[in-house]
Amino acid sequence: MKTRLTELMGIQYPIIQGGMHHFGVPALAAAVSNAGGCGTINRSVYAGSKEFRNAVREMKSLTDKPFLVNLSLLPDVSVGENVGETIRICGEEGVRAIETAGTNPKELVPYIHGAGILHIHKVPGARYALSAEKAGCDAVTVAGFECAGHPGGDEIGSLVLTNRAVRICRIPVVAAGGYADGRGLAAALALGAEGVVMGTRFLATKECTAHANFKAWIVQASENDTLLCQKSVHNLMRVANNECARRCLRLEREPDAAPGKLMSALSGGRASAAYEDGDVDGILFPVGSAVGLIHDIPSVKDMIDGIMREYGDALDRMLQLACGDSGTKEWAPAGTAPRVERGGESR
Ligand SMILES: Cc1cc2nc3c(=O)[nH]c(=O)nc-3n(C[C@H](O)[C@H](O)[C@H](O)COP(=O)(O)O)c2cc1C
Repeated sequence: MKTRLTELMGIQYPIIQGGMHHFGVPALAAAVSNAGGCGTINRSVYAGSKEFRNAVREMKSLTDKPFLVNLSLLPDVSVGENVGETIRICGEEGVRAIETAGTNPKELVPYIHGAGILHIHKVPGARYALSAEKAGCDAVTVAGFECAGHPGGDEIGSLVLTNRAVRICRIPVVAAGGYADGRGLAAALALGAEGVVMGTRFLATKECTAHANFKAWIVQASENDTLLCQKSVHNLMRVANNECARRCLRLEREPDAAPGKLMSALSGGRASAAYEDGDVDGILFPVGSAVGLIHDIPSVKDMIDGIMREYGDALDRMLQLACGDSGTKEWAPAGTAPRVERGGESR
């Protein structure tokens, strides 16, 4: 299939694995690129330029397909990272595209393009998407309120956000937030997006380096099992409803709550260790509402192939409906049969 995203990135399917701090490493990202999507490694995972360059080289040894580098522009994430150096390394190593997120990337666009690299910027609101276009970005990802991590202050869900962004932007729009299957992909493309970014879905794959406890938590969770925290300190985060998130909400009610204080009282520097030890309750664990759509832990290739099959089923259904065939075929593609979950409700 062809969309403006597959053409721009030189990929087979319009599916990007979102940048994921801790998990944006070659083991996962190369599997995504090899399966026809676009994998992403995160600059923020690596202590210095040398380690980052080694990671890019590891990617190139594992896949000959295009991939992304996620570069956070948030000051607390980028501390110690030399942004210019990162761009230079990406250019020298032939990285196809950089995904920035966090603040307006206007000043970086000439440097990224000057290094021969495409620039995709990720935003949480339609008006920021337009700013990214004006800044000269090649594509923009719009992340709706359902998304894992930082949904932004507009609190607009993916359905309206994607629809709105494609109506006001001329550059390709990629939809993020709540997409985890072929039906979601079909819906995003129907809205006018050129592809999807998925984060939460990729956590529950064989290749993701998270401890099995985190993957098990996702599989048993429903769409009601995320929490929004840190709103009071203007750093809104959608995370798993676990002990740490509930403690965060309690701490936020204290009069002197501040982002730095909260982070050190909560996970502090323990996130990497918790992800390795399987301490699901010990940290703020970013997950999106899409957890309610995830029931298995497949390999990345099986997952992407399954998404593309279900996308085909969704198109068939639309054609059937257009032909006035509404009641003839039950809409329950393989692998999505309702199952009984906690509390006896079926989904
Ligand atoms: C565990 C985890 C860590 C994330 N870390 C980052 C990050 O470091 N930088 C970033 O731009 N986005 C980050 N995200 C957001 C994803 O790139 C993506 O935009 C989001 O997950 C899409 O929504 P979804 O989870 O509903 O698919 C993270 C997401 C997850 C699940």
